[in-house]
Amino acid sequence: VSRVSTASVAAGAVAFAAFAGAVAALVLAASPAVVGVLLALAALAGALLVADRLRLRALLVPLGAPTGDVHAQSVALATAPLTRRVVLAGAGATAAAGGALVAFGPEQPPGTGWRRGVHAVTPEGRRVRAEDLPTGAFVTVWPEGEVGAELSAVAVVRLSTGTAEPPTVLEWVVQQRIVAYSKVCTHAGCAVDLYRTGSDELYCPCHQAVFAARRGAVPVFGPAAVPLPQLPLGTDPEGYLVATGDFPRPIGPYRA
Ligand code: FES
Repeated sequence: VSRVSTASVAAGAVAFAAFAGAVAALVLAASPAVVGVLLALAALAGALLVADRLRLRALLVPLGAPTGDVHAQSVALATAPLTRRVVLAGAGATAAAGGALVAFGPEQPPGTGWRRGVHAVTPEGRRVRAEDLPTGAFVTVWPEGEVGAELSAVAVVRLSTGTAEPPTVLEWVVQQRIVAYSKVCTHAGCAVDLYRTGSDELYCPCHQAVFAARRGAVPVFGPAAVPLPQLPLGTDPEGYLVATGDFPRPIGPYRA
């Protein structure tokens, strides 16, 4: 009897691949549903792996110390149904590991419609080519297929006063001047609907908060305490603007 059965190898490979996939999904800010499915698959495969290993160990004991009808004992053990306790123990251990990953891993995505590869579209549903944005352009965009979704509204700006500077995440800037920020004000959640060409400032009309679009949308005036979250931005092979991920932190009013 082989000490490593084909079933163990297969279950172990599936458990490892599903768990690694869940970690990657978290890092890439995939939807919680994807993470949940992968963790559940890892838990199931892990449980089967544990169960198979324990059954194999039980099968080897009587073969090493033969007493009575060894063949009958072996067949009985090898074909015995997996006990509920073994399955639950394996599933519980793997699920606990997954839960710990979710609890102590990277911050959860904020739940907007932005994902890697999703196109930015105008209120009319048109995709936006980077080349078509003139200097000083200010465009409101949404994830394709979710036009009008309040929490996903984004301001795209082609800076007029120079290239973007830190704390802007420069890898998320297209052609060094096209930046994208959440339009949901970090003060009280109004729409940041105004932009001043010439100073590259985004302006919230509710309580007059002003954000420096060229410098990571840090607040420079008014009651807002934290910057507008920056959307990871890139282009597809044809030059249309796409998200390269979701926002790195929750959008909307800041809660200390
Ligand atoms: S909600 Fe924007 S400044 Fe108050």
